[in-house]
Amino acid sequence: MSNDYQFDVLIIGSGAAGLMSAIQLSNNMSIAVIAKDKVLEGSSYYAQGGISAVLDPNDNFESHITDTINTGLNLGNEKSIRFMVENAPHAITDLEKTGVQFSTIDNKYDLTTEGGHSSNRVAHVADKTGQSIQVNLLAQVKKKSNIKLFEEYIAVDLIVKEGKCYGAYVYDKNSEEVITFCSKKTILATGGASKSYLYTSNPDTSTGDGIAMAYRAGCEITNMEFTQFHPTCLFHPHAKSFLISETLRGEGAKLLLPDGKEFMHKYDDRLELAPRDIVARAIDNEMKVHGFDCVYLDFSFKDEEWIKSRFPTISQRCSELGIDIAKEALPVVPAAHYTCGGVNTNIDAQSNITNLYAVGEVAHTGVHGANRMASNSLLECIVFAKSCADHISKSKLEKILPINAKWDESRVAPSKEKVVIAHLWHEIRLIMWNFVGIVRSNNRLKSAYLKIQQINKEVNEYYRVYIVTEDLIELRNLAQTSKIIVESALSRKESRGLHFNQDYPNQKSETENTVITKP
Ligand code: FAD
Ligand code: SIN
Repeated sequence: MSNDYQFDVLIIGSGAAGLMSAIQLSNNMSIAVIAKDKVLEGSSYYAQGGISAVLDPNDNFESHITDTINTGLNLGNEKSIRFMVENAPHAITDLEKTGVQFSTIDNKYDLTTEGGHSSNRVAHVADKTGQSIQVNLLAQVKKKSNIKLFEEYIAVDLIVKEGKCYGAYVYDKNSEEVITFCSKKTILATGGASKSYLYTSNPDTSTGDGIAMAYRAGCEITNMEFTQFHPTCLFHPHAKSFLISETLRGEGAKLLLPDGKEFMHKYDDRLELAPRDIVARAIDNEMKVHGFDCVYLDFSFKDEEWIKSRFPTISQRCSELGIDIAKEALPVVPAAHYTCGGVNTNIDAQSNITNLYAVGEVAHTGVHGANRMASNSLLECIVFAKSCADHISKSKLEKILPINAKWDESRVAPSKEKVVIAHLWHEIRLIMWNFVGIVRSNNRLKSAYLKIQQINKEVNEYYRVYIVTEDLIELRNLAQTSKIIVESALSRKESRGLHFNQDYPNQKSETENTVITKP
């Protein structure tokens, strides 16, 4: 037997989904949480806008459900959406129990709005909601003696035999060894795949690892054509697509052309608060038609002191870059932001592989359909982390069998040409940005498919002969996830939400999910 570690539950990922799952699991279970970077690094930490929930007596569940279905262009699963929306107030309470203090006015939640919401239902902690959630969740995790954190450990592949998951092979970045983590239950909480694109609001962790691992293990991967582009990331050479929260538009910020003229009235009656797919496409169109490098977001008409206290993170980052948000309009462009598709799961977060669960951005629970409504993602993380943990805590844990699953490095050698990895990594991201972006066409998608397929062949060959490194693990996952995105986009013969194909500009009357599985 060669099991290096054994736990009742292995959680891969320490974002809001992973940490909340760990907290909600029974204290009797031994739990490992592994993170491929520092524990706090991941999209969750950078979330600005907030988390949606019906908290105002004048709002109601049916309205939140309808807004979510409409924003997702009717592709969402109503049962999952209802489950998420009805559990949202509990999710807020669960977060408050960990220590999160949402912003208030007159002792009431300071609820704001974003695109697609017909009521103010976005609870926030100024513009650092994710930071507050992550810091508090981590503090709770650290109090629990049954949870062990493994920082800078990157999962390479799931261990699956005869349709059951027994844990994962994990690369320890410091010792450079691959270790076997055996577990009775495994939760994927690895976040999204927006790093497949050249420009993204996401941190470096979002390389689609969980989606690629699940695909290789035999999971159903659903609706991956729906990459969400956030309309407003800062256009600045040193900003690395820093996000300018949609809640600025929720508080009245205007989108302008370089000559100061407004343009959203040409695209949607809801103007700046139309759903994200519409606003991103509008900006993309204005930039392409006129050859602009960016458009502008103007908030300078608001009171300076209020801006600084309501949006401290954004004010400070802009100021570091020499932009005074209270005095001038911000140059903004769209960038890849969120992966709506992912590992197909039910309401208990179960995948189609026994003992394997997926929670958070890595999962496809069916709540987002063809376009995620703003601030529904943190909500999805918290609600489904709980249902996942409840399901595991109630289920009978099978004994860990000796599975003889030692990592075999006998046929590989250290690489002498790491330049190949850097090159292919960049090539994928460029292809995805130029050929599989906000507006698509059959020709560009077909061309992207051929190129990405070829890159996958090269990466697999490289992987076969060289010892794994962090970059190689991520490149392999990025290549595989990008191929799934392109395949999914090619198979959808309509335009819906975030997937707009010029060759099929209309939306079909019937709805269908795109499901990709390993041949
Ligand atoms: P993440 O928080 O991305 O965490 C993923 C974890 O998995 C990390 O710990 C990472 O290290 C780990 N990991 C990945 N691969 C591996 C591997 N192979 N091995 C080991 N560990 C691995 N949503 C909202 O609802 N409201 C907002 O206001 C909002 N603002 C946002 C702002 C920004 C800038 C961004 C980028 C996103 C925002 N989103 C927002 C989206 C939301 O934050 C994310 O969808 C959500 O936080 C994802 O959480 P997660 O736990 O699934 O993944
Ligand atoms: C934002 O603050 O604009 C991001 C919100 C989200 O992605 O839901």
